Amino acid sequence: MESINYHDLNPIQRGLLFAAAEVMEKAYNPYSKFSVGAAIRTKSGDIILGANVENASYGCTICAERSALVSANALGHKEYESIAVIAKPEKGVTEEITGPCGICRQMILEAAHVSNIDIEIIMSTTDMKRIIIAKISELLPFSFGPNNLK
Ligand code: THU
Repeated sequence: MESINYHDLNPIQRGLLFAAAEVMEKAYNPYSKFSVGAAIRTKSGDIILGANVENASYGCTICAERSALVSANALGHKEYESIAVIAKPEKGVTEEITGPCGICRQMILEAAHVSNIDIEIIMSTTDMKRIIIAKISELLPFSFGPNNLK
């Protein structure tokens, strides 16, 4: 997959990525010191934010993407078009593009099923010099979803 940079994004994608970068500053990350921000754009054009929240019992940690998803659900949103993800380490910028972890991909897949939209995921380095855009179907092929339970 070829990477682009933030100049190549359309204004909606750019706005979503900047919203994710802003909420990244709200991360509660005393253990990893790694900040992640996620911004979901709903079909109606609302933007719902999430940041990672860690815990002394490390396994309790919730990622930025799932934080945004549960928040969007609580606010009554059911249809999501895209989600932007960005992260930064304690010092400097990420060397690699940050994409959603496996658990978050699984939750995005469920949201895509409910939305009936192959959700677009905008993944970026901290400096936004390298960005990859992919659909959840590309990030989680041969997945297990609601249809498999039938
Ligand atoms: N993290 C996220 O918020 N999203 C991801 O997709 C990957 C990891 C967080 C969890 C933890 O607080 C920190 O990044 C380091 O793993």
